[in-house]
Amino acid sequence: MSQSPAWKALSAHAADQQRLVMADLFAADSQRFARFSASAAGMLLDYSKNRITTRTMDLLCELAGEREVEARRDAMFAGEILNSTEQRAALHVALRGGADGDYSIDGDDVSTAVTAVLARMQAFTNGVRGGETVGATGKRFTDVVAIGIGGSHLGPEMAVTALRNPASESLNVHFIANVDGHDVLHKLMHLNAETTLIVVASKTFTTQETMTNATTVKAWITHIMGADAVAGHFVALSTNTEAVAAFGIKAEWMFPFWDWVGGRYSLWSAIGLPIALALGWPPFEALLAGAREMDNHFRTVPLAENLPVLLALIGIWNINFQGHDCLAILPYDERLKRLPAFLQQLDMESNGKSVTQSGEAVGTATGPVVFGEPGTNGQHAFYQLLHQGPQVVPADFIAVANPGHGLKDHHDQLLSNVLAQSRALMLGRTLAEADGNPHRVFAGNRPSNTLVLEHLDAHMMGQLIALYEHKVFVQGIIWGINSFDQWGVELGKELAGQLLAPISTRQVPKTTDSSTAGLLHTINEWRK
Ligand code: F6P
Repeated sequence: MSQSPAWKALSAHAADQQRLVMADLFAADSQRFARFSASAAGMLLDYSKNRITTRTMDLLCELAGEREVEARRDAMFAGEILNSTEQRAALHVALRGGADGDYSIDGDDVSTAVTAVLARMQAFTNGVRGGETVGATGKRFTDVVAIGIGGSHLGPEMAVTALRNPASESLNVHFIANVDGHDVLHKLMHLNAETTLIVVASKTFTTQETMTNATTVKAWITHIMGADAVAGHFVALSTNTEAVAAFGIKAEWMFPFWDWVGGRYSLWSAIGLPIALALGWPPFEALLAGAREMDNHFRTVPLAENLPVLLALIGIWNINFQGHDCLAILPYDERLKRLPAFLQQLDMESNGKSVTQSGEAVGTATGPVVFGEPGTNGQHAFYQLLHQGPQVVPADFIAVANPGHGLKDHHDQLLSNVLAQSRALMLGRTLAEADGNPHRVFAGNRPSNTLVLEHLDAHMMGQLIALYEHKVFVQGIIWGINSFDQWGVELGKELAGQLLAPISTRQVPKTTDSSTAGLLHTINEWRK
């Protein structure tokens, strides 16, 4: 890939414009913002504060053309087998319905099954929220415990955190992910088993953390109400019918999805049930509609104005041609506080790859290290490094024009901060401006995007998540990697399996490395 004409042209262009100073570009061109911003459906992407010119964007669009981004995009929407290492389609877009017809894989319609599961989810949600569906002792459910990890946790937790309205909640939804016993114990401590519904979310229904937590919660339910109560309190969201039945969950309370839904792309499927339970059915439908709107944008708008494509190309420029291998996600909205964690999985599990689809070395950097915190909290923590550290960390700032509250003073301050941060990163401060004090110098010329949302509701949340899903996909196409597998999680899981016996029997295997042996010895000695 690095030998392709567009890639080489971009490398040469990057070398030519090493001395490009953003502040000078802004001073010389009053139209820079208009030139390097794009909007759609209440979202504005300002990418003008990157070290780019129109030539940069032209070359990046040429690269997208050369890498056949449009053809690969269409292949995804057509249900082709994009996930070649697992021989699966990546058809999460089918979960949010299509503007112009139904989705199929290999000629087999999938939309009918999607619609049928959604109808069951809707009826179940309304039953639980309306109080008609009750627990084993006839009491109305007041709480939901959603057990799941990774893609079976982060999306629902993020959406519920962003969209819940504590003032009008009829059900309290709690999430348990970590196998750490503190997580499950702390959550159960305040709950009444008789009024708690347990939702076990796992695509495979074999994930160690989820099954361990589910088994512990099952023991809690059984201890309090007897084994017969399990079927009246447990719901499963999974592709594994046999394992769900073996666990003791009744078929009517299993909500299925399919192998063509990747874990980190699954919040739109049955995995989203905790969202519907927390918020009600109409917001869940609005979430799907928002994603569908972004799907239609992605599939129809020309590359040079296409929001996910632009976000992807700017990322490629910063990672591959400017050498910046991190990305800070900085939402200036407390409701989006779990967005960085969600995008960490979406981006790093999708594009943290070193080989192409065909198994050859990629030969270039791929996905960035993603981290972040909501603003303004991050400003008082790690922004020091963003402004004055020797490494450059590109950032995505996210601002919401209209807050979900009436505290104008708070929101004015929040917005002034988000605009100030990207401006400070871009402008910097010279030694002369810092009165000769090197400690107060800011290099500036540091890249960022700013995404402004007109407001934040379920529809916008759907748009926002789908925007990043498609961005990550486009970058994967450009790097030639499979964004839909995650073999990199396997080795750790295998070794954890091997180390479980030495940990639980407190014996140190003779064959292990000295570090692992030393750590085992210490833990065994210190464990009471
Ligand atoms: O270990 C990684 C992973 O497979 C993720 O890709 C996935 O989202 C998560 O584990 C949970 O998997 P499951 O839904 O099968 O429990």
